[in-house]
Amino acid sequence: MNPVNIGLMGLGTVGGGTFNVLARNAKEITRRVGREINVTHVAAREYNPDSLGSLEGIKITDDAYQVVNDPDVDIVVELIGGYEPARDLVLKAIANGKHVVTANKALIAKHGNEIFAAAHDKGVMVAFEAAVAGGIPIIKAIREGLAANQIEWIAGIINGTGNFILTEMRDKGRDFADVLKEAQELGYAEADPTFDVEGIDAAHKLAILASIAFGIPLQFDAVFTEGISRITREDVSYAEELGYRIKHLGITRRTDKGIEMRVHPTLIPERRLIANVDGVMNAVLVQGDAVGPTLYYGAGAGAEPTASAVVADIVDVARVLTVDPENRVPHLAFQTDAMTDTRVLGMDDVETAYYLRLKASDQPGVLADVTRILGDQQISIEAIIQKEPPEGATDVPIIMLTHTVTERSMNDAISRIEALAAITDEVVRIRVESLGS
Ligand code: HSE
Repeated sequence: MNPVNIGLMGLGTVGGGTFNVLARNAKEITRRVGREINVTHVAAREYNPDSLGSLEGIKITDDAYQVVNDPDVDIVVELIGGYEPARDLVLKAIANGKHVVTANKALIAKHGNEIFAAAHDKGVMVAFEAAVAGGIPIIKAIREGLAANQIEWIAGIINGTGNFILTEMRDKGRDFADVLKEAQELGYAEADPTFDVEGIDAAHKLAILASIAFGIPLQFDAVFTEGISRITREDVSYAEELGYRIKHLGITRRTDKGIEMRVHPTLIPERRLIANVDGVMNAVLVQGDAVGPTLYYGAGAGAEPTASAVVADIVDVARVLTVDPENRVPHLAFQTDAMTDTRVLGMDDVETAYYLRLKASDQPGVLADVTRILGDQQISIEAIIQKEPPEGATDVPIIMLTHTVTERSMNDAISRIEALAAITDEVVRIRVESLGS
């Protein structure tokens, strides 16, 4: 069979990794696909030839449109990142009848509905395994491996940089900024690292997971997103005292009232496997009605782990190039005409348990006032600890764990608690999930 020609757009961390993995494992990949996969075209503004295998015989350009418009290219691999010009290039490639592989979570989360509609009309594939959790084949697992199930919920550590920062802060007492700098040097962090620490990158990935889990359109703008930049060492250590770890989770859940999509720091019991996923590693816990809980673990960022997912997509696409488009695995796991518009729950209606940290003047009656307010909102307390005031201070930290309650009730309770004269600072609230099946 004729070789498959690849047009690679982008030779940065992931592009370079993809180029090298394809070259190094060419023989094994050919044995798997049944035909050769050749990188014939590359578009890159800048690259370091010393970090790459031989570029001999490859058409190299700094104009990515030359790749998407070249009739010799069968599969366009988009590893440029960002919304534009990636969106325009991918739509142009599709219009030209080319299949597309991309690692671009921002692009899929934000413009996926438009891109998949165009691909469906044209009968071409758009594969995006590397967009979520780097090297972990989570898209394939949910879309194909768990196709028998009704997915009930997914909870994932889906940003390696954030997990690396939280882990280093906890284990080594390192500074937030210092760890972030290291993550950037290692090629884990996004071009704009606020995407990592403020949860935007995780929200992109969560929108994709929710869509393939529940057969709903991609709705990135509906994801509730809270970052890790306000997590303190105090909270990390109080959580540990209570038997919990703080992880930055993406959570999506099907409830009777609608679908939850949220990214925020979360206390999870330390006995859960996922609570022990550290460093740049990612993990995704998926609860299916038939299979129960399944956990997927691996490197969520970095050149070759991400390249592993990109190349797997290239293999998948190359294997089914000649298959009738109607009989391919649907892009978003469900047939295009079977997608539903199930309501996405606003955060006010989400029910979860909470960790609260209050700072109060050490005087009689404060706890009584606080517990009365919680009682008025039907919020039941699971645990409460009052600490000694820190050296030289008069205010005492009070830490509480509550039972499950709506975010709306908790917001009301927090406003009333903060209005008490004896409460001397903003109430810190971190959501708590048991992640039990
Ligand atoms: N910045 C991302 C992360 C890269 O840290 O997980 C992989 O998507």
